Amino acid sequence: MPVITLTDVVKTYPPREKGAPPLTAVDGVSLTIADGEIFGIIGYSGAGKSTLVRLINALELTTSGRIEIDGEPVTGLPERELRRVRAGIGMVFQQFNLFASKTVWGNVEFPLRAAGVPKSEHQARISELLHFVGLADKAHVRPDQLSGGQKQRVGIARALATSPRILLADEATSALDPETTQEVLGLLRRVNAELGITIVVITHEMDVIKSIADRVAVMDAGRVVETGPTFEVFSAPREASTRRFVSTVVSGAPVGDDLAALRRRHDGTLVTVRVSEGGVDQRDVFALLGRHGLSFEIVYGGIDEIQGRTFGTLTLAVTGPDGSVRAAIAELGDSATELEVV
Ligand SMILES: Nc1ncnc2c1ncn2[C@@H]1O[C@H](COP(=O)(O)OP(=O)(O)OP(=O)(O)O)[C@@H](O)[C@H]1O
Ligand SMILES: [Mg+2]
Repeated sequence: MPVITLTDVVKTYPPREKGAPPLTAVDGVSLTIADGEIFGIIGYSGAGKSTLVRLINALELTTSGRIEIDGEPVTGLPERELRRVRAGIGMVFQQFNLFASKTVWGNVEFPLRAAGVPKSEHQARISELLHFVGLADKAHVRPDQLSGGQKQRVGIARALATSPRILLADEATSALDPETTQEVLGLLRRVNAELGITIVVITHEMDVIKSIADRVAVMDAGRVVETGPTFEVFSAPREASTRRFVSTVVSGAPVGDDLAALRRRHDGTLVTVRVSEGGVDQRDVFALLGRHGLSFEIVYGGIDEIQGRTFGTLTLAVTGPDGSVRAAIAELGDSATELEVV
């Protein structure tokens, strides 16, 4: 059962200058996000990710297309009704957006007041939320006395205050160092697993998607260019922009100067092999080369892991009789590419 359904969603902004064409920030996006999943949206700056988020939580209206939340069309709802839809969606931001003059407690209380939750219920709810995010001892501290990770945990507690079914996290870890990023991602995982909240994570960081998203959509210039289970999309990327994201965590085939240096340093045929769990196993590749009587050396590449499954690219310098090298490459099929220095 999808909680969020987007069908052919388009958002254009009027031109900045007279006579210029309108700017299309989101260009025909269709997506379904299932109840209880962690869905990642990755793309470079300007890809349209934040615009898409503002459309999902109805802070902005679509130019065309349809958005449904919990099976209910959001497009075309009157403002009054939109407020109810928004109340079911929590938001976490890159810059935390905490009130500097309020304590941690006051920040988490704010949405409870705004939603008209009776004052008598605040104490128990806030205390429960601060325990959940591990900040019970910081209730009376102001944000400027917290670390970045602690600020974001307050941001998450505040977003959860009114018990939303969906949490949208737009670059929620982009201002944090790698270790703190993993801490906050761990908390988001608990929000998902223990509270059953559907999470949409928007990021330009491959590491974030890799460690948290069940499924991912890759956005480029307003469009979704690739989507599917995270392991499938990144272990066999089809689009250039997807490959660029993968290359930020695991090196692919060597190109340019790297390739030229390998050529100088190693004899034999340079062959890149794509390996992945469920696909080609590296041990099978080594055994196959052995069967053909070839020697080889791993000269470049890397293996990484998504959701406990390994994938990567290995470049080998293979030596032996030319006919055997040809036969081995042919047997490896689509997963292997012979590299030539141009
Ligand atoms: N309110 C607006 N008015 C005009 N153009 C806008 C507006 N908001 C966004 N845009 C444009 O839409 C495009 C997509 O912007 P958006 O902020 O959605 O990208 P993003 O993927 O979130 O980028 P980043 O990673 O930098 O946050 C950009 O070209 C941007 O300049
Ligand atoms: Mg953005």
